[in-house]
Amino acid sequence: MRLPAPELDGGVSLEKAIGVRRTIRSFDAKALSLQQLSQLLWSAQGITEQGGFKRAAPSAGALYPMDVYAVVGAGCIESLDPGVYHYNPEGHSISLGREGDARGDVARASLWQTWMAQAPLNLVITAEYSRITGKYDKRGMRYAMIEAGHIGQNIFLQAQAMGLAAGIVGAFEDNKLIRVMGIKETHEPLLVMPVGYER
Ligand SMILES: Cc1cc2nc3c(=O)[nH]c(=O)nc-3n(C[C@H](O)[C@H](O)[C@H](O)COP(=O)(O)O)c2cc1C
Repeated sequence: MRLPAPELDGGVSLEKAIGVRRTIRSFDAKALSLQQLSQLLWSAQGITEQGGFKRAAPSAGALYPMDVYAVVGAGCIESLDPGVYHYNPEGHSISLGREGDARGDVARASLWQTWMAQAPLNLVITAEYSRITGKYDKRGMRYAMIEAGHIGQNIFLQAQAMGLAAGIVGAFEDNKLIRVMGIKETHEPLLVMPVGYER
């Protein structure tokens, strides 16, 4: 499914977004729009190079070992069925993987941090190390983890600039999370970011 085009100019200054950003752990049930999802995914891994392939966050060697998944609850994003969606930067689109609302399972896989399941959307950032270790050997894993941090901060600041709030979670059981999301075993989850309206 093609997403609406992201906005390329906003009303909130970068300094304001940095200054007010906090990890939020309490969310309203209010649904998000497809436009908001589009904007968040664009800020994470959208292609920002006119006619090229480079993305919103930097990547060692421009090898892009990262993927972003959207775990969407029932009635949580307008005109989207609940499910686990994969973001495709080329074409700015999403494709449905596992069907159904997986937020509770994601929260339980995250050492029972049940607050995560309140957020209408959980964004999951994963790394596929083989895409980068071919060039950088073991050091490529470090580069991928650093890249996850860049993506996470972009999501935080983009959420803030849209009047939304985000949390960030690194405490989860990798294999359990992979299983409940139904994603490839080679896509190692590094961060989960619940996003929504702060309650
Ligand atoms: C890599 C990483 C992992 C984190 N994991 C969790 C987590 O599992 N659960 C949680 O509630 N907060 C988690 N946090 C959020 C931190 O607790 C939070 O960033 C810190 O308290 C500073 O607060 P602030 O983000 O509001 O400035 C994590 C943050 C980072 C950067």
